[in-house]
Amino acid sequence: MKNIAVLTSGGDSPGMNACIRAVVRYGISKGLNVYGVYQGYTGLIEDKIKLLDERSVGNIIQMGGTFLRTSRCPEFKTETGRQKALENLKKHKIEGLVIIGGDGTFRGANELIKMGIKCACVPATIDNNLFYTDYTIGYDTATNTVVNMMNNIRDTSDSHGRVTLVETMGAGCGDIALTSGLAGGADAIIVPEVEFDLDDICEKLVNARKHRKAGSIVVVSEFVCDIGELAKAIENKCKFECRTINLGHIQRGGSPSAYDRNLATRFGVVCIDELLKGDSGVVGIKNGKYIFISIEKALAIKREFNISDYMLAETLSF
Ligand code: F6P
Repeated sequence: MKNIAVLTSGGDSPGMNACIRAVVRYGISKGLNVYGVYQGYTGLIEDKIKLLDERSVGNIIQMGGTFLRTSRCPEFKTETGRQKALENLKKHKIEGLVIIGGDGTFRGANELIKMGIKCACVPATIDNNLFYTDYTIGYDTATNTVVNMMNNIRDTSDSHGRVTLVETMGAGCGDIALTSGLAGGADAIIVPEVEFDLDDICEKLVNARKHRKAGSIVVVSEFVCDIGELAKAIENKCKFECRTINLGHIQRGGSPSAYDRNLATRFGVVCIDELLKGDSGVVGIKNGKYIFISIEKALAIKREFNISDYMLAETLSF
């Protein structure tokens, strides 16, 4: 293998740039020509492919987002779109790809593997919803962002004696809400994995006041319920003044944490080593060890929700 390319696809996550940097510089150190594909799978279809060098990836390790840019590309889901991508890869004599993104991105990579292109994929999403790996790139930074926001919210909630409902991202996975809720001392955490009950939440909030808490924070993972409606229901039932805040895309940006940078760097290096061996698959980290398994196997794995952390957050929240 002489020519490879790297691309980022789907929602950006902090640490993607650190991974691109590692792929480019480690690839060059192994004698490879490393191309960058701009704008994810769209760039493959539209031939936005440029040779990168060691300076192309200078001064990006500390940056959130992705300097290669990204896209969600419906055209790549069609046979015609993928054929165009294949032609462009052949034009540049690219035999291997490092593909950085989430589950949708991995499914796209699997189609390329079937067409004869070697693909090594890196799990990068703030949601931590790729269950074959303990961590995805960006999750650590996103949870730290949420915790920092919770610190600010606590100041004003306590000053006014309010309950503030904080909505986090997660795309159906409660990990961001759980980890930041535990770290930020939330009074209640609402996640898709655990059925929630209004009476139960209200009981916790009333109990918190009995224990002399001034204000309260409830962390709610997106898509579980409408936080505006929930706030009204709490106000009606408990007579506490409520506020809501959806942290939204704030969670996606920002300088990556040291953990995310180093995880991204290692993931990039493993991918180059695997491509050089002629392998395709996905890299991950399991119990502190780097793994590389097939996309099908990775996507079939389900992880148990960390109910022990959830219960601990409840126990400590009074
Ligand atoms: O997958 C990452 C994520 O940020 C999810 O948490 C969220 O549901 C979704 O992407 C938002 O997508 P978009 O950036 O397209 O609005």
